[in-house]
Amino acid sequence: MQPKYWDRWLDASIVGGFTRLGYQLRRPHFAPLPESLAGRHIAITGANSGLGAAATQMLAARGARISLLCRSTDAAQALVRELAAQHPQAQLEVVACDLADMASIDAAAAALADAPPLDALINNAGVLNRQRELDERGREQSFAINVLGTFALTWALSPRLREDGRIVTVSSGGMYGAALNLRDPEFRQRRWDGVRAYAEHKRAQLVLTRRWAELWPRRKVNAMHPGWAATPGVARSLPGFSRVMGPLLRPPEEGIDTAVWLAVAPEVARSGAFWCDRRVRPTVRIARTRPRPGDAARLWRMCVEATGRGAEGQPAA
Ligand SMILES: NC(=O)c1ccc[n+]([C@@H]2O[C@H](COP(=O)([O-])OP(=O)(O)OC[C@H]3O[C@@H](n4cnc5c(N)ncnc54)[C@H](OP(=O)(O)O)[C@@H]3O)[C@@H](O)[C@H]2O)c1
Repeated sequence: MQPKYWDRWLDASIVGGFTRLGYQLRRPHFAPLPESLAGRHIAITGANSGLGAAATQMLAARGARISLLCRSTDAAQALVRELAAQHPQAQLEVVACDLADMASIDAAAAALADAPPLDALINNAGVLNRQRELDERGREQSFAINVLGTFALTWALSPRLREDGRIVTVSSGGMYGAALNLRDPEFRQRRWDGVRAYAEHKRAQLVLTRRWAELWPRRKVNAMHPGWAATPGVARSLPGFSRVMGPLLRPPEEGIDTAVWLAVAPEVARSGAFWCDRRVRPTVRIARTRPRPGDAARLWRMCVEATGRGAEGQPAA
């Protein structure tokens, strides 16, 4: 794909780049995804809904083996039945995994112990909570899922991932609006703002992505944002936005295309980058949101202290 000024203009305009318009204009320049993924094993979180279900469908259509790591296992089983009928060559298994629960994360990793090594992990599951909700341990729930759960699962599955495997984390363009907040990540001292909390978590996912890329240089470890896609999550968390933008929202398969591409395409050459529509995108649009030296080490330490996992990966301050 040749660099195009119009592509950068679309991206800078936000609405142009994030909606279906952006995808439709860029798509003619995309190489097809590999026709067959037979023999590839890919794990994906939140596979039962929205973008995750679309990714699972795209991978199943190409004959991959897919581990659907899901909290809602009934919904995941229903999807598996539907996809198995359409794509009998795919191998689909549901693995219970609640990202807010460390024991569930460990059990999911253990359940994959006897499976073939993973070629890719897609960290797709995520939430934007309009109300501040605490989990059983008193942790703010969306931080526990988006940051701590994603961190702990990636760590737990790393030994099951091929040495040259891929990790893709579905972040968000919402990240552009916020800096990392390491002083009060769970909004104990601030008035709750779910959109802001979500933006901070998605920024944190990018910081973690860069650390994973440093730790595992043989792997391709990337984050991406899907633009704005019509999913149950968006309809539930942002009903006004969903109504107003409805016709412009991407279908889920357009939003998640780049994550699937990053997970399986031979031409992906970069690691530690932030992508949308198969192109590396800037990570900072507002200067005050730029991570500061030492942030990655502080975030990592916070994740280790909260999860009891990953101490060996602690970056030097
Ligand atoms: N749609 C967009 O425009 C958009 C834009 C930017 C980024 N994203 C990101 O894309 C990802 C997918 O979102 P979506 O739009 O497809 O929303 P969605 O339809 O609500 O899907 C979210 C998925 O995350 C799962 N999940 C939530 N909490 C979980 C937990 N504790 N443990 C395990 N899984 C959990 C959900 O499972 P349950 O069914 O059990 O709740 C569901 O499968 C998210 O990370 C989101 O932040 C989406």
